[in-house]
Amino acid sequence: MIIAVDGPAASGKGTLAKNIARHFGIPFLDTGALYRATARDLLARGGDLQNADEAVKAAQNIDPDSLDDPHLRDPGIGEAASKVAPIADVRAALLDYQRRFANRPGGAVLDGRDIGTVVCPQADVKLFIKAAVEVRARRRFLELRQTDPAITEQQVLADLQKRDARDRSRVEAPLLAAEDAHLLDTTNLDIEGACRAAIELIETVLGAGGKTD
Ligand code: CDP
Repeated sequence: MIIAVDGPAASGKGTLAKNIARHFGIPFLDTGALYRATARDLLARGGDLQNADEAVKAAQNIDPDSLDDPHLRDPGIGEAASKVAPIADVRAALLDYQRRFANRPGGAVLDGRDIGTVVCPQADVKLFIKAAVEVRARRRFLELRQTDPAITEQQVLADLQKRDARDRSRVEAPLLAAEDAHLLDTTNLDIEGACRAAIELIETVLGAGGKTD
């Protein structure tokens, strides 16, 4: 069973996807971490984010063990990730890893921007998570403030808006709900409520004839 969870920055899709994976007992892949790791490794080598050859090399050489590096969550790395993400060859270099993960026996949950549209168009259930940008900024601000007391909510809001605009307007695999995705608006839901709603939605879709293996 493959579950695709897409949505804009800080929409809560990572937390939801993790909880969905735990509920169904299947593995979870944060595909944003692949783009973040590509950017991190490129910057660590003093590379140029606009240089497609260097970016592709970084994407091809990601160490999967480095994907839980807490520095991947730094806002600067998110911003840099969205600058390497439009490069078609970078996306192609990361596709195989994502598809192999998705096609494990028993299935998987993947979260990102293009899971339902490009990575797993055959997913059994596709969710597209939405939330008002001010609410997303507030949530991300509260998270980032724990490690960066100097960060401001306004700064976080501006960063999210810039990154969403970049992700939506790119030619390759833009941030977009698949036609058969189920929209879930978490603006007025807390984490528990959002997880409950997502799991109910998935169970309804599966019960209505979705595949279960
Ligand atoms: O956690 P957050 O929503 O802030 O970001 P993320 O999911 O870690 O993704 C970071 C960046 O990677 C995004 O802004 C996209 O530019 C890129 N990305 C992508 O292009 N395709 C994906 N499937 C996942 C992330």
